[in-house]
Amino acid sequence: MRFCLSIALLFCAGPALAQSSPYRYEITKYITPAKCAVVSAHPLASEAGVQVLRQGGNAVDAAIATQLALAVVYPEAGNIGGGGFLVARLRGGKTIAIDYREMAPQKASRDMYLDANGAVQTEKSLAGHLAAGVPGTVAGLFASHKHAKLPFARLIAPAIQLAAEGYVITAAEAAGLNRRKDDFIRINTKPTAFVKETPWKAGDTLVQKDLARTLELIAQKGAAGFYQGETAEKVVAEMRRGGGIISAADLKNYRAKVRTPLQFKFRGYDVISMPLPSSGGIGIRQMLGMVEPYPLEQWGFHSTRSVQVMIEAERRAYADRAQHLGDVDFVSVPIASLTHPAYLKKRMQTFTPGQATPSEKIKAGQFPESMQTTHLSVFDAEGNAVSVTTTLNGGYGSRVVVGGAGFLLNNEMDDFSVKPGSPNMYGLIGAEANAIRPGKRMLSSMTPTIVVKNNKPVLITGTPGGSTIITSVFQTILNALVFDLDAKTTVFAPKFHHQWLPDEVRIEKDFPDSTRMALEKMGYKMVVGTPWSRTELIKIHPDGKIEAVGDKRGDDSAAGY
Ligand code: GLY
Repeated sequence: MRFCLSIALLFCAGPALAQSSPYRYEITKYITPAKCAVVSAHPLASEAGVQVLRQGGNAVDAAIATQLALAVVYPEAGNIGGGGFLVARLRGGKTIAIDYREMAPQKASRDMYLDANGAVQTEKSLAGHLAAGVPGTVAGLFASHKHAKLPFARLIAPAIQLAAEGYVITAAEAAGLNRRKDDFIRINTKPTAFVKETPWKAGDTLVQKDLARTLELIAQKGAAGFYQGETAEKVVAEMRRGGGIISAADLKNYRAKVRTPLQFKFRGYDVISMPLPSSGGIGIRQMLGMVEPYPLEQWGFHSTRSVQVMIEAERRAYADRAQHLGDVDFVSVPIASLTHPAYLKKRMQTFTPGQATPSEKIKAGQFPESMQTTHLSVFDAEGNAVSVTTTLNGGYGSRVVVGGAGFLLNNEMDDFSVKPGSPNMYGLIGAEANAIRPGKRMLSSMTPTIVVKNNKPVLITGTPGGSTIITSVFQTILNALVFDLDAKTTVFAPKFHHQWLPDEVRIEKDFPDSTRMALEKMGYKMVVGTPWSRTELIKIHPDGKIEAVGDKRGDDSAAGY
């Protein structure tokens, strides 16, 4: 049956999103709700979150319901077969960081993606059964649920319904599914809901019966409904058919980890973000620390001077990331040294205004020893703030749909350094600190972040975008709090990105020409890339006004009341 898909982009402040249906819904880019807001990559997922807020749930309930709905309506990145990170600040000031990053299976080994000559077999870490790490999302949802108010069954109900009864897809989703059709057919061992004979188009209905069954098992049995029993058996059987290595023991032993949130001061604000195994928190702490002494607000937004100093901070932070960062449960990382103000100051001593520093001259600091992802931001009427980024890694992850269970597995193994010095899918270089070891979590760039002032949340933000996540969050914080841009411009303004190697600055196509040309004269290689990041921002003003913005770069949508 064909249903009408109604999509309207609303760029103005308006009343809360009207109750939508899976067959008729709107994408809303900007709202100013009175009490609470959810922003995510899909309007139906944002709506699922708001629905539980209306039922008396808090921001954590809403974050759980939104993630589960994303696993259905945004298969490109929303997931139960991937992993993620949650950062929250509860009313009263308690901060929380939950790590549900995927884990290398016990049969994984350091050189598993190298051939007999030591060459990297990229296709194996990027697609197919061997690319998948042990999924963490379901464990993470249950670890988060300790801070929620409503029964889990209530939070998962919208996702079950969306999977069982279907929803109409947008043009972007249709394009994504069509683009991956050949992969879905080549890689999968059983038919999947994502493949149909004729091309997908906007307005088609996607029904996912197998996924609905898997979600029902989670509703009935909790995390054990995923990591043990029928679903776990289906994962292991899928691995057997497709040559993968995730075992029943890997699934049974997976645990989400409660971490200490990474917290630091920036110009009178308290920034709360994700610690390792995400490099995101350390990355923004280094970059913000390196630019803090410079009068960016006087120099102006997108002025050559501001952009140059920000690029040089980005370059230096990514050089450190490549060398030093990895899963702290396996390697020792000199976090205190990397983030010490004296180190960050010294790091910028090689910065020359008006001249690019070649990346070959920037090495990682030395110490004695010591595209697809998805983000959601939630703020509730009690003042609780939740920031969650989850991922399958690439679009549709490994493209492996677990036979009979209907969910996609991640291709997160590619986030390890499969060979020191060899770039991963984001061009990121890694070293021993991020080498593969059984049970280890691969280094991430995901940066779910909350900024607080005077004990009240001011920004709740994060984004997908692989290696660009950290620079996007860095720029979002500066845009909002230093350049004083309004919430929409903060998110919609063109971004720029430097990650040390390759030694180039990626810019979005609407980046100002005058700044680009001035930087080129200084020796920067400027490369126009396709738009990246899908930043979800909730900004809370001192007078209590709430602004919620879904990025213009996708189907992202804000909801609230
Ligand atoms: N898979 C992207 C990241 O975790 O950084």
